[in-house]
Amino acid sequence: MAAKQKTLDDLFLHTLKDIYYAERKILRNLPKMAKAAESQELKQAFEKHREETQGQIERLEQVFELLGKRAQGVTCEAINGILEEGESVMEDFGESEALDAGILAAAQAVEHYEIVRYGTLKTWAQELGMNDAVKLLDQNLQEEKKTDELLTQLAEARVNTKAA
Ligand SMILES: [Fe+2]
Ligand SMILES: [Fe+2]
Repeated sequence: MAAKQKTLDDLFLHTLKDIYYAERKILRNLPKMAKAAESQELKQAFEKHREETQGQIERLEQVFELLGKRAQGVTCEAINGILEEGESVMEDFGESEALDAGILAAAQAVEHYEIVRYGTLKTWAQELGMNDAVKLLDQNLQEEKKTDELLTQLAEARVNTKAA
């Protein structure tokens, strides 16, 4: 007998665990980024996003519940790598004028990772006919997109202040 064929449901659950792990890791990381940032706006952006992230984790827990599964993470090497890179930037550029530029770049890498994961999960939830999950995942997706846009604005404002 061949092993049981894996399905899109399995892949959906695995990826849900991946982003659940990532979000909880990000939740712990955001205060470090807020603390390290020089600009008040950037600090505030991270503090606001920390609160949003807490809500995102709760939405993910609701999606697990819809599946009748226990909320559980699975190690996501991608987010570990992205966050480690961010931490080394904060260490290496701690005293420099490029610090916020480095933190912004690291934070946008995190947002882009989340955007791509939520986009995929939402599409799969649609395919699987899980309409309530689609809504919850879309709420997270929209928050990540807004955060990414805000970070882009802050990065551009930095450049403009420099140029002035
Ligand atoms: Fe998030
Ligand atoms: Fe995010």
